Amino acid sequence: MKASISTISTVLIFVSLSISLVTSNDTVDFDSFLRCLPTHSNPLVPIADAILTPKNSSFEYIYQLRASNLRTLLSSTSRPVAIITALHPSHAQATVVCAKRHGFQVRIRSGGHDFEGLSYTCDVPFVILDMFNLHSINVDIESETAWVQAGATTGELYYRIAEKSNVHGFPSGISTTVGIGGHFSGGGYGFLMRKYGLFIDNVIDAQLIDVNGRILNRESMGEDVFWAIRGGGATSFGVILSWRIKLVRVPPRVTVFTVPRTLEQGATDLVYRWQQVAPNLPKDIFIRLQPQPINNGSNSRTVRVLFFGHFLGKTNRLVQLMNTNFPELGLQKSDYSEMSWVESTVYWAGFPNGTSVDVLLDRVRVNRLFSKTKSDYYKAVIPKQGPETLWEAMIDIEDIMVQMNPYGGRMEEILESETAFAHRGGNLFMVMYMVLWSESEGGIDTAARYVELSRKLYSRMAPYASRNPREAFLNYRDLDVGSKESSEIDFEIAKEYGIKYFRNNFIRLTSVKAMIDPENFFENQQSIPPLLMRVTQ
Ligand SMILES: Cc1cc2nc3c(=O)[nH]c(=O)nc-3n(C[C@H](O)[C@H](O)[C@H](O)COP(=O)(O)OP(=O)(O)OC[C@H]3O[C@@H](n4cnc5c(N)ncnc54)[C@H](O)[C@@H]3O)c2cc1C
Ligand SMILES: *[C@@H]1O[C@H](CO)[C@@H](O)[C@H](O)[C@H]1NC(C)=O
Ligand SMILES: *[C@@H]1O[C@H](CO)[C@@H](O)[C@H](O)[C@H]1NC(C)=O
Ligand SMILES: *[C@@H]1O[C@H](CO)[C@@H](O)[C@H](O)[C@H]1NC(C)=O
Ligand SMILES: *[C@@H]1O[C@H](CO)[C@@H](O)[C@H](O)[C@H]1NC(C)=O
Repeated sequence: MKASISTISTVLIFVSLSISLVTSNDTVDFDSFLRCLPTHSNPLVPIADAILTPKNSSFEYIYQLRASNLRTLLSSTSRPVAIITALHPSHAQATVVCAKRHGFQVRIRSGGHDFEGLSYTCDVPFVILDMFNLHSINVDIESETAWVQAGATTGELYYRIAEKSNVHGFPSGISTTVGIGGHFSGGGYGFLMRKYGLFIDNVIDAQLIDVNGRILNRESMGEDVFWAIRGGGATSFGVILSWRIKLVRVPPRVTVFTVPRTLEQGATDLVYRWQQVAPNLPKDIFIRLQPQPINNGSNSRTVRVLFFGHFLGKTNRLVQLMNTNFPELGLQKSDYSEMSWVESTVYWAGFPNGTSVDVLLDRVRVNRLFSKTKSDYYKAVIPKQGPETLWEAMIDIEDIMVQMNPYGGRMEEILESETAFAHRGGNLFMVMYMVLWSESEGGIDTAARYVELSRKLYSRMAPYASRNPREAFLNYRDLDVGSKESSEIDFEIAKEYGIKYFRNNFIRLTSVKAMIDPENFFENQQSIPPLLMRVTQ
């Protein structure tokens, strides 16, 4: 994430809690589960090397290492009966088959960035299937495609592409430790979104483990399932092993800029103007806004807005385009920098100028924080009271990261029904509101206070955001938009969050779910329920 949170120093804590291990009261079940695993996996890669139970000394370390949000980690008092850190695809297949047979839920985890921790928490006995070790990436420049395993990170993907070509790239997330496995779930967006759409708009095949442990590809899963796993939250349908992606073309040099504007410098007017300009610029330009509260004087607070630009081309051309389309921003020649595409991924991820691209290979997020995130879509230009309301709400919150991402371009061309990701034409921009805090006394009480602040801000923005439904972005998972108990099927509740995340695609998702997982094995608090729950006999 760009310009990450300077006000909070690196938090690297391993939370110690009193943990009640959720184990089956029928220990025979667990033993049977463990005995089942080797009988379903490739003997050449012993699954014993992948099984962690609470008796293994590294169990707690691995559990916490890939849990990105300290809020959900801190509030999670349950632990899985085992973590299967798959070393071979058959280990993932065996985990599904044996967990189902012996009565355990499965939580699938790739990068662990889920904002609500749904990849590692569960209120019934469960197993974590950790895909982190399955991270091979095979780039084939001749066909301009690549196979990418679910455990790879976006950073690794960018690095492996750049190793082979400086004129290819891929449109996906801005943070470089996000797991490919979860990322496509809600589409997966980044600064190439206006040019090439989302991650899911550039995939051509997939390997999916279904509820019976079979590995399906696009042909054998069929177009309905292939449609659903692109944006519908794959975790409701099976385990993604890998994606085959189509690389996109980028120029050898791209141009970036970052400029701050304070309220005194007219930031509110610029934001107002940005809404009209940014979604209509040529597709090669992406301008993200990041307003942030700052201290001004001893006890007064104000807001400044960072304007981050990315352009698929050279400086001279961008200077012309900005002077024509957005002269109010007042960019100077010295504001622009040229670099290779892969260097721009490092730049946008917020690493200091001069950081080597090798940083893309760092797979685990280290500066983890406590956070609560919400999202909004905006479909009409909002009056200046909109940003003014946001500034007021932000100033009341100690630390908050807000990001405003322009739509338009390619996003406008792709039909809402083309993939399960439904937020397409008619959106001007999408906003993330992320309230952040660091560890302090009071743990869960502190969290409750900040979560409440995020809800207040969200309700203040209601008059300006999309409504009926107030749409939300699945990758910015928020249980406040509706959630059910684990393993419960409640169609009415599911409809509540389903319509916000998927709009009209929700109903089709429930019928695909009924086809591929009719017994609802793959589930969580916000999963897609199967449409036909009971078959009359
Ligand atoms: C710092 C940060 C920056 C981010 N930046 C962006 C961004 O720029 N663009 C963007 O679009 N999103 C962004 N996100 C959101 C991110 O895309 C989602 O949180 C995504 O779900 C993370 O994937 P993961 O594999 O790391 O997470 P996980 O927590 O491992 O998984 C998330 C969800 O996907 C499921 N899942 C994981 N692996 C699989 C699999 N192999 N098969 C089936 N289901 C699976 C999990 O069960 C869970 O429900 C960001 C998040 C963070 C924390
Ligand atoms: C033990 O398991 C049985 C059957 O799975 C269940 O009905 C019962 O409630 C469980 N008891 C406890 C104490 O969890
Ligand atoms: C976990 O502990 C068991 C029993 O001591 C051991 O056989 C196994 O190798 C350990 N697993 C890992 C992944 O280290
Ligand atoms: C801080 O406040 C003073 C007085 O209102 C103002 O002149 C100044 O520009 C402000 N600085 C910033 C960074 O907003
Ligand atoms: C990075 O630093 C170099 C050398 O100081 C400078 O020329 C360049 O403009 C900087 N780039 C950015 C993006 O700040």
